[in-house]
Amino acid sequence: MTRTLWDSSVGKKTVMAVSGLIMLLYLVVHMIGNLKIFFGSGEFNHYAHWLRTVGEPFMHYEWTLWLIRVVLVVAVVAHATSAYQLSRRDIKARPAKYVHKKARSSYATRTMRWGGIILALFIVWHILDLTTGTVHPGGFQSGHPYQNVIDTFSTWYGNVVYIVAMLALGLHVQHGFWSAAQTLGVGSATRDRVLKTIANVLALLLTAGFIAVPVGVMTGVVS
Ligand code: HEM
Repeated sequence: MTRTLWDSSVGKKTVMAVSGLIMLLYLVVHMIGNLKIFFGSGEFNHYAHWLRTVGEPFMHYEWTLWLIRVVLVVAVVAHATSAYQLSRRDIKARPAKYVHKKARSSYATRTMRWGGIILALFIVWHILDLTTGTVHPGGFQSGHPYQNVIDTFSTWYGNVVYIVAMLALGLHVQHGFWSAAQTLGVGSATRDRVLKTIANVLALLLTAGFIAVPVGVMTGVVS
């Protein structure tokens, strides 16, 4: 029974919807947390420290953070695997190749596919930049994310990478949230307009909230 559900397209779409919503929740929290950069280095670095001590004394140092990391990794892997399998299935189900290249896949399918690839690459870059410091410009300082963020957005390519990724994120969330609602059976003729509005507002707030950080550094508001 579980096996059949997992093998079905509906099962895979449900996995995509649930894992997508988990990541969306994380992103809303992450975006709001990032806005603390506008209140100065003390508050931002204190927040980063709190992320490591949250749950103490029941949890040991960084246990909660590691728990979140594990949940996110499982969500990313489940989301990407289901997406890949669903797209393979799509190609196999086609009786013959399309004559016109343009008609090969819909605008939404192409946006989600490319958006997903851009986001996956971005996540790797982002972790190497601001968590491990491997590709970070200048001297990465563990425990001082405020200065690290300023260093990142003091380079042209840092701004380009993050802003392009945030625009891709907006489009991905806009369509993804809508698809998830349909898969989970929340949609209906009367509710669809409301759901579309929620998807648009969420995507816009996330993109604008995230992009505010590089723009803040570029304009000198954050320095
Ligand atoms: C302008 C946009 C963003 C900025 C300025 C930013 C900033 C940061 C910073 C400073 C950290 C390290 C926090 C710390 O060590 O305490 C971090 C961690 C993280 N960010 Fe972002 N972030 C942005 C967008 C995103 C997006 C769009 C995603 C996902 C698609 C994301 C996913 C993550 C993850 C998963 C971590 C945790 C890595 C770990 O410590 O395990 N971030 N971010």
